Amino acid sequence: MSNTKSKVALVTGGAKRIGQAIALSLAAQGYSIALHYHTSKAPAEKTAEAIKNLNVDCQIFPADLTDLKSTQNFIKRVFTHYSKIDVLINNASLFRPSTLKKGDLKQFENDMAVHVRVPFLLISQFAKRYKAGNIINILDTRISDEKAPRFSYLLAKKALAELTTMAALELAPAIRVNGIAPGLILAPEGEKPNYLLRLTQRVPLKKKGELRHITQSIEFLLNNDFLTGQIIYVDGGEHLI
Ligand SMILES: NC(=O)c1ccc[n+]([C@@H]2O[C@H](COP(=O)([O-])OP(=O)(O)OC[C@H]3O[C@@H](n4cnc5c(N)ncnc54)[C@H](OP(=O)(O)O)[C@@H]3O)[C@@H](O)[C@H]2O)c1
Repeated sequence: MSNTKSKVALVTGGAKRIGQAIALSLAAQGYSIALHYHTSKAPAEKTAEAIKNLNVDCQIFPADLTDLKSTQNFIKRVFTHYSKIDVLINNASLFRPSTLKKGDLKQFENDMAVHVRVPFLLISQFAKRYKAGNIINILDTRISDEKAPRFSYLLAKKALAELTTMAALELAPAIRVNGIAPGLILAPEGEKPNYLLRLTQRVPLKKKGELRHITQSIEFLLNNDFLTGQIIYVDGGEHLI
């Protein structure tokens, strides 16, 4: 078991993109990082190196979070490795199209696993073990919409938003639980660079967000100890339309 003196943050899906930015930002604030990844081994190792260059520890933990055994094994390994985890960021995500009519059960189960089952299991382990700490769930501005080209993704993110507020109440006053609902920050992998530019036309602030808008919001939530059960829409006002 690691008895690292610095505070520890666990970030799921932290090898690249938004998860990587969150991990690097927390590391820059002095947190040791438990970095989960699934397929992005090389980016995870590179991120871990960058974190270690900030003079904090980083351990990497691979797991397929659609798979229950792999998830349970990951949870056991990470909670055994650290005597205390101070911050949990549920960031890992699947972003696949699905419709209710098509009724793809596998996609539904995978979305529910990554966005609901894993946060549920991690949050309950966190709450069982620790008497203090912070949990931040990464949602999506579209949780306030009813129409979605990614039906089971959105349904799962809506459930994660409910988990956020219900957990906030059950776990207070020991643990604070909040959410961040990003809008247009990064185009999905494989999309053309102008993908987001077109979509920004519908955003009230007429621009896309930057990674720093997410990391600033996380820092704010961690530092403000009168906040729990909040969902911050980091979306240029997109949730208003
Ligand atoms: N990008 C945006 O503008 C935007 C907008 C709204 C909401 N969000 C939310 O913000 C968060 C980060 O967004 P993002 O675009 O950076 O996310 P992303 O790239 O779609 O996914 C983040 C990570 O999730 C991991 N993941 C996917 N399937 C997995 C599985 N079966 N098991 C374990 N891990 C798995 C992947 O890890 P590996 O690479 O290691 O496989 C991936 O790097 C997500 O929760 C997303 O829903 C993002």
